[in-house]
Amino acid sequence: MKAFVDKDTCIGCGACTGICPEIFDMDDDGLAVAISDEVSAELEDSAAEAQDSCPVSAITVE
Ligand code: F3S
Repeated sequence: MKAFVDKDTCIGCGACTGICPEIFDMDDDGLAVAISDEVSAELEDSAAEAQDSCPVSAITVE
């Protein structure tokens, strides 16, 4: 699976970094970035939870 953050949509709430810090981090602009776009099997659940928790649906995990 791969994870992406749409930076045009992200409002920097930070939920994703709290739920799945292995995949998501905040960049210098205060917006989320997928630091590892390849999501390993053991991180799929938390990456999906981060996706579901984003208030503006900026995250795609597929
Ligand atoms: Fe941005 Fe959504 Fe994460 S608003 S910081 S991608 S939870």
